[in-house]
Amino acid sequence: MRVECIVDGKTLSLSLNSNKPLSLILADDIGIDTFSSCCSGNGCGNCIALVDGNAVLSCMVPAFEINGKTIITFESFKKTRNYQDIAKAYDAVKARPCPICYKSRTLLFESIIARGVTKEDEIMRELGTIECACMDALDEIRIIREAIEIRRRRRVRRS
Ligand code: FES
Repeated sequence: MRVECIVDGKTLSLSLNSNKPLSLILADDIGIDTFSSCCSGNGCGNCIALVDGNAVLSCMVPAFEINGKTIITFESFKKTRNYQDIAKAYDAVKARPCPICYKSRTLLFESIIARGVTKEDEIMRELGTIECACMDALDEIRIIREAIEIRRRRRVRRS
């Protein structure tokens, strides 16, 4: 099938098997080798990309589901001010993800922040997307709240 999508700001038209997972599309068809590990669908959570702003496990999203969607990988996200907000929050809280889950967890935090998810039980549920046990959940919530505040202050300064 033909799939039209935007990946990291580039408009693409790709000829794909409709069931090919997004993780493989990114690696094979677009040349974005962004993931530090791959469990091939067993739920490690280390393959997160943003699809229309939602954090998804890219190894479980088939090609037909990305048609017409906007996809952001860590490769472009790391160049943004929004990434800097989260990186500053890591420093402020003195906690950060390990190298294995860093990219996915950072994109997951961004999804939570940008979608305005603020209820603690909802945040906790979303944080469960990533299996890696390198972080304390309370630290993760502090990072999210800190990044929200850093972003709010940045936007007030700009206006
Ligand atoms: S690679 Fe482990 S959940 Fe996708």
